[in-house]
Amino acid sequence: MNSLVEEIKQLKKEKNAVIMAHYYVPDEVQAVADYIGDSFYLSKVATKVKEDTIVFCGVSFMGESAKILNPSKTVLMPDVTADCPMAHMADIETIKRIKAEYEDVAVVCYINSTAELKSYSDVCVTSSNAVTIVKALPNKHIFFIPDQNLAHYVAQQVPEKHFIFNDGYCPIHKDITCKDVIAAKARHPQAQFLVHPECPPDVLNYADMIGSTSEIIDYASKSTQKEFLIGTEAGVLYELKQKNPDKTFYTVTDHQCCIDMKKVTLEKICHVLRTYEGSVQVSDTLRHTANIPLNRMLDLAK
Ligand code: 13P
Ligand code: SF4
Repeated sequence: MNSLVEEIKQLKKEKNAVIMAHYYVPDEVQAVADYIGDSFYLSKVATKVKEDTIVFCGVSFMGESAKILNPSKTVLMPDVTADCPMAHMADIETIKRIKAEYEDVAVVCYINSTAELKSYSDVCVTSSNAVTIVKALPNKHIFFIPDQNLAHYVAQQVPEKHFIFNDGYCPIHKDITCKDVIAAKARHPQAQFLVHPECPPDVLNYADMIGSTSEIIDYASKSTQKEFLIGTEAGVLYELKQKNPDKTFYTVTDHQCCIDMKKVTLEKICHVLRTYEGSVQVSDTLRHTANIPLNRMLDLAK
């Protein structure tokens, strides 16, 4: 076995640590993880972890959310510069203005956001629970931050609510265009198109199924179809192929790659386990305020 993998296993035991990973990190990192999943699954796991230390293989909002949900744990990020650009694409002044304008508004914050944005929000959501949670809210008006594409998808599923959109987006999902989808479908006419709701609305129109990373993996695994065209970050292909060696998966383009997620390496995991560098810090005040919408998400999604 790879000596780095051996060392990680040893260090995990010594330090009483657990490794959590999102489906977008490199294959060899997913292979050493104790828990792999989508953002919702990983936040639920973070609340229940018994070990002293969580090594979070993902981007900063994920490690931050784990620390907020389970503050007594040490949360280590293998690369502290791994950040989600979309997490910063909303601003507090606009939230305050919308709240002043609409008496009955809920600020619904995609978990891909900074802890500061969460602290000004009423509830967090992920791509797998956003529709359920928005439906369950008593408010008529929904200000959905930061992702405009997920917001449009949810708005379509919950037409009884009035949505106020924000202009944030994921650069990787936004980069998948209808032209790309049409060309990929022509190359693979038998393939079903499974797509993440962070993609633009016109791309979602071509979908056979729309869902979070875990939902895409579950759908393909249960399906009797043999070929799938995947409209999300290419890292999901690792788990898709692990679970379905008899099926074939294609990406729509050759650039479905989140460079921040790919910053996580086995070397960096070893390093933070040895040194405890990359420990996530969240101030008490921010932790208390950001914990409220995160916990409300966990409650409403039950
Ligand atoms: P999910 O994990 O909810 O599918 O979201 C994808 C994503 O972009 C995470 O950064
Ligand atoms: Fe952020 Fe997009 Fe990367 Fe997910 S894939 S972490 S939304 S930039």
